[in-house]
Amino acid sequence: MAVTAVVGLQWGDEGKGKLVDALAARADYVVRYASGSNAGHTVIVNGRRFVFHIIPSGILHERTTCLVCRGVAFDPESFFSELKSLQEAGIAYENRLWISRRAHLVLPLHKLEDEALDRLLGIGTTKRGVGPCYADRAYRLGVRVIDLYCPTTLRQRIRTLLEVKSPLLRKAQIEPPSFDDLFSWCEDVARRLQRFVADTAGILQKALSSGAEILLEGAQGVMLDIDHGTYPYVTSCHPATDGISSGCGINIVPQRVIGVLKCYTTRVGAGPFPTEEKGDIGETLRRRGGEFGATTSRPRRCGWLDLPALKYACRIAAPTHLFVTKLDVLAELEKIKVCSAYRIGSDVLTEFPADISVLEKVEPLFREFCGWGDVKGVEAFSRLPSQALEFLAFIEEELGVEVGGVSVGSERMELLERQT
Ligand code: IMP
Repeated sequence: MAVTAVVGLQWGDEGKGKLVDALAARADYVVRYASGSNAGHTVIVNGRRFVFHIIPSGILHERTTCLVCRGVAFDPESFFSELKSLQEAGIAYENRLWISRRAHLVLPLHKLEDEALDRLLGIGTTKRGVGPCYADRAYRLGVRVIDLYCPTTLRQRIRTLLEVKSPLLRKAQIEPPSFDDLFSWCEDVARRLQRFVADTAGILQKALSSGAEILLEGAQGVMLDIDHGTYPYVTSCHPATDGISSGCGINIVPQRVIGVLKCYTTRVGAGPFPTEEKGDIGETLRRRGGEFGATTSRPRRCGWLDLPALKYACRIAAPTHLFVTKLDVLAELEKIKVCSAYRIGSDVLTEFPADISVLEKVEPLFREFCGWGDVKGVEAFSRLPSQALEFLAFIEEELGVEVGGVSVGSERMELLERQT
């Protein structure tokens, strides 16, 4: 399969990193096309935990070339710190990791602005400056990687940015950086980044023409998409399928789109969450699933699987296959619930509501499944306990998409592909 995309179908944190790591073993190119260091993709190899925010998770496989394309809000601080952890783990990255010249930079100023704005908006952002970076792109105030190498443009942009942003920061009692500090930060980044800067769209074009295996690594999930998600409690880009071509900088249509979903639901930050469990069940899911943000360490809100939200997400992301993660987390529960519809008063909703004030009021209608017991050590999809297979068949039928695999533990090998 020449081009495969891995996208999240929930509110992020579905376990995409683990699947990307597995598929990357067969890929020539692994590509990030959207979002920024707000993403946290965790991969565990031989007990060692890697968390990638900017660098594609495929970097752990030394024969892959990794691209950070135009659509990524590029955070140099995160990039350099991830490079350091690769160095420490002895993973070679020279000449196989490239950053788009056209990517917009997340400046220290954007992180301060994210902090200031979130005090007003209460979205609970990751404070990684991603929203302000994309906003500046739209305002045409942004600094792109290529601009680092043109001092005249850079000076003028920094001056304008400081003029526009300083009043907002001061209002929030945050001292803006000085021109000199910001300019020398950019000079330092320019120097350290230069050997990674490339025409990533051109590289991808050649890769496509040569029939190379390309793996597109989505971030977050459809429900956090700026247009399709639970606005305004969303991130600020198109992190799933519809961000691919514009984010890559060339028209690229994946033949295989793997929609990743966790067998329950989590969400970080504010916003409606119809199946949230605030009591013991939520706590159990959090503890058993290690549900703490990979980027901010915040405890994730936890609840049952939400099929109305997933149906809506499938309509947008159009997955050709599903990959269901963390079956082991539900293993020891006696009863497992799945929300199959939403009700408001006496009405059962047939559409996922666009109005979040409606979503806040819906009552989930649940279907119950029996727990499936321990799945650790199960070696083939077909050998999963019958209760787990029944649960997966229900998801498949409701969403109208085949389940192509599952994960049954956090280690690299604990992943079962369905043989057809
Ligand atoms: P931002 O993307 O940092 O602006 O945050 C906007 C919303 O998206 C907040 O609710 C964040 O918690 C959420 N968010 C951003 N990135 C992720 C992610 O990778 N996983 C889960 N939630 C995320």
